[in-house]
Amino acid sequence: MGICRSILIVLAALLLLPGSALPAQRNACLICHRPHHAEQGNCVGCHRGNDRTNRREIAHHDLIVGRFAHFTLKGSPIVVRGKELLEVLACRRCHVYEKKGNRLATDLAMLARSVGPQAIFDSIRSPVLLMPNFHLDDGQLAALVNAILGETESAGAGAPETARVVHFEAGKRAEENVFVKQCGPCHKLLSERFGGLGNGDIGPNLSGLLSEYYPNTYRDTEPWTTGKLMKWLENPRNMRANARMKPVRLAIGDFVLLMQTIRINLEVYTEKEVMNVP
Ligand code: HEC
Ligand code: HEC
Ligand code: HEC
Ligand code: HEC
Repeated sequence: MGICRSILIVLAALLLLPGSALPAQRNACLICHRPHHAEQGNCVGCHRGNDRTNRREIAHHDLIVGRFAHFTLKGSPIVVRGKELLEVLACRRCHVYEKKGNRLATDLAMLARSVGPQAIFDSIRSPVLLMPNFHLDDGQLAALVNAILGETESAGAGAPETARVVHFEAGKRAEENVFVKQCGPCHKLLSERFGGLGNGDIGPNLSGLLSEYYPNTYRDTEPWTTGKLMKWLENPRNMRANARMKPVRLAIGDFVLLMQTIRINLEVYTEKEVMNVP
């Protein structure tokens, strides 16, 4: 009985110890690191990881390293730079970012929930076949990753919206597509209706052409329209003195099929309807 009581007293005394003295409540990151940005949050709030252990590998699990952590600072110039790059490089002609953009590929805001920052970095540096290689340096890539992580934070919870791209059931139909035959040797296209088409790299990737997110490359700063594309195909040199692309002559029926392949959110099908879309 006496022994039991003294054990209980010891236990009670342990429970009454001030919280800070219990190892489980200390920020174990501070065993190895000095604090910084303390006024703006705590270590795991900005870097993730596990602050309940003194073992580095466990403490660093899922860690956001310094160069990808800038999005946690308010008004970070690196995030601003990343957003500028997203704009200039027109990522939105394929991806949704800040709820704007074509749904041809993953919504960038949803990405960081399933993929780590380094994997995002790597997939922009070494992109999949249908995504252009922008040949960016490490600083530009890190800025883009920070802009994507920052957007993930502010997007909040919600069901991820899937890309709208449909894929050919059989390769044969893809080969018959007018884009594949007439443009595919020099261009690539991620199309909403038929998935990835073409395999050329001589000309630019045309995904999202004629949508508001494609860069305004027609005569410097003008957006592309159906009519302008038609003129361009008749003779690119009339539009750009030193264009390398040669004229491509298409029967009107093929041009309509081309529009139905290239355009996004196009719910019209007859020749007249297609030609009337600006
Ligand atoms: C046992 C010691 C130890 C603990 C505990 C520890 N770290 Fe580290 N940390 C290191 C060492 C050593 C490095 C440098 C080598 C490396 O990157 O692994 C480092 C590097 C880092 C880096 C920089 C990586 C980069 O390249 O930018 C960050 C950020 C970091 N730690 C955050 C944390 C956070 C947050 C915690 C707590 C959740 C933590 N660390 C806990 C030892 C530790
Ligand atoms: C408000 C967000 C924030 C908090 C809180 C924060 N960090 Fe950082 N950390 C960053 C950012 C951003 C960087 C990138 C360089 C910079 O701006 O300081 C960074 C960089 C680092 C680095 C890389 C080396 C360096 O100084 O560049 C280490 C290590 C690190 N943090 C550890 C920690 C630890 C440990 C804590 C908790 C004591 C912590 N950080 C708290 C945002 C934060
Ligand atoms: C021509 C279309 C296109 C453009 C432009 C484009 N991407 Fe992509 N991107 C893709 C495709 C296709 C994939 C792979 C499939 C998917 O993720 O939907 C992809 C994948 C990614 C991934 C990896 C996604 C994952 O699931 O792991 C990241 C990150 C990414 N893109 C970022 C960017 C950024 C940043 C830009 C602008 C600098 C950009 N992309 C421009 C088409 C494009
Ligand atoms: C033999 C190669 C070749 C073929 C075939 C070809 N193009 Fe091009 N295209 C190019 C090249 C090279 C450029 C780059 C601009 C230039 O001409 O200097 C280009 C540029 C373009 C541009 C301008 C894009 C921009 O943002 O500046 C459009 C639009 C375009 N092509 C559409 C098409 C379409 C549609 C087809 C098929 C009907 C097609 N091209 C067939 C080589 C080709």
